[in-house]
Amino acid sequence: MNHFELKGGELWCEDTKLSRIAETVGTPVYIYSSATLERHFNVLRDALVGAGVVEPLIAFAVKANPNVAVLRTLARLGAGADTVSEGEIRRALAAGVPADRIVFSGVGKTAEELAFALEAGVAEVNVESEPELEILDRIGREKGVRAAVAIRVNPDVAAGGHAKIATGKADNKFGVSFAEAERLYARAMNMAGVRAIGVACHIGSQITDLRPMEEAFFKMRGLVQRLRAAGLPVERLDLGGGLGVPYFNQPDPPAPDEYAAMVARVTSGLDVSLAFEPGRMIAANAGVLIAKVLHIHERPEGRRFLVLDAAMNDLIRPAMYDAYHHIRPVEPRAGEVGPYDVVGPICETGDTFTRDRDLPPLEPGDLVAFMSAGAYGAAMSSEYNSRLLVPEVLVRGEQFAVVRPRPTYDDMLSRERMPVWFEDPQ
Ligand code: LLP
Repeated sequence: MNHFELKGGELWCEDTKLSRIAETVGTPVYIYSSATLERHFNVLRDALVGAGVVEPLIAFAVKANPNVAVLRTLARLGAGADTVSEGEIRRALAAGVPADRIVFSGVGKTAEELAFALEAGVAEVNVESEPELEILDRIGREKGVRAAVAIRVNPDVAAGGHAKIATGKADNKFGVSFAEAERLYARAMNMAGVRAIGVACHIGSQITDLRPMEEAFFKMRGLVQRLRAAGLPVERLDLGGGLGVPYFNQPDPPAPDEYAAMVARVTSGLDVSLAFEPGRMIAANAGVLIAKVLHIHERPEGRRFLVLDAAMNDLIRPAMYDAYHHIRPVEPRAGEVGPYDVVGPICETGDTFTRDRDLPPLEPGDLVAFMSAGAYGAAMSSEYNSRLLVPEVLVRGEQFAVVRPRPTYDDMLSRERMPVWFEDPQ
């Protein structure tokens, strides 16, 4: 459920007309609903707690939507943060996420980032390889602390909506094998700069079938039991994120309470504290990208192009993963639907959001909303083609705030420097 609805013939976000925001801020623009973000977080937490999970750590995957105001909206509900860089840790801290609810994940953390994370006092570093464990141990010893570590395991289970976002197979770069995990865990217990507290997994994203998750979690349960049988204490089991959302063209994902019931069943009696790293399921349907129709270009041979002022640099998912985003006119006109190829202004064919999509009649100047764009939307935007970075707006009821303004062209140019050799007069 989300808070983008047609009222009186036009699309609103909560109690604010999307057209009013577009008029004030211009387009393209991302718009997020506070109520939807809050609802999704609460639904997941209530489902987990209702299923019997005691005090779950729900660490929002910052990569899905790193906007600091979005993070603060979730932090105020008690969310933690799953981070993968110093930048994301800094964002989470700036948003008011307590360090003891921050998880630091990622395949290639630098020594500087690990040192930063230890100084910040993050709850857990999810270690993905033996070299990383050794570096963290050295940094911990230098600082006189024992860094809390969870070993990220690759459970060798296939899942996820697209090959580019499946992470749980043994040939993916993520995590260590079960055998290696047992060895590394035991090794970490004897290191002075780290302290093994648990194990972690994350098998992929946009998962719409609970079976692969259940299989992976069951394997993780076995691992916890084997570690304990070897005399190694395990306090934490981090089950990652990955739960899918409805994008309209895919099977409906499992409801949060089905997910929670499965988690409770698989982990029952294990006596570990559970952590989760959801991104998409909290943020995707809490955001839209609003674009303006620039031209309608009809080819005599038949194709009809809807040229928008948003492009692949603003929303790359269709170009990168062939992702489907539902497109809705903000003020729908009456009339027959007809097929459009929806494209942006960027100079490559990949800048096509969709082909042959049936849409109601549209005219230049009309606004359209890309739905389900609150996760991995603005987060993956760029300035390609020297287009200004897309702004972001957060709505709460009748109020809205620009939480990341559109930069000016001067801002864009002022980041660059001319080399000294151009200063010499010829
Ligand atoms: N934890 C870890 C370790 C992750 O790598 C990810 C996502 C998450 C949690 C959050 O997963 P979620 O709950 O959002 O599925 N850019 C792609 C998605 C990449 C996901 C990467 N890892 C997309 O636009 O579909």
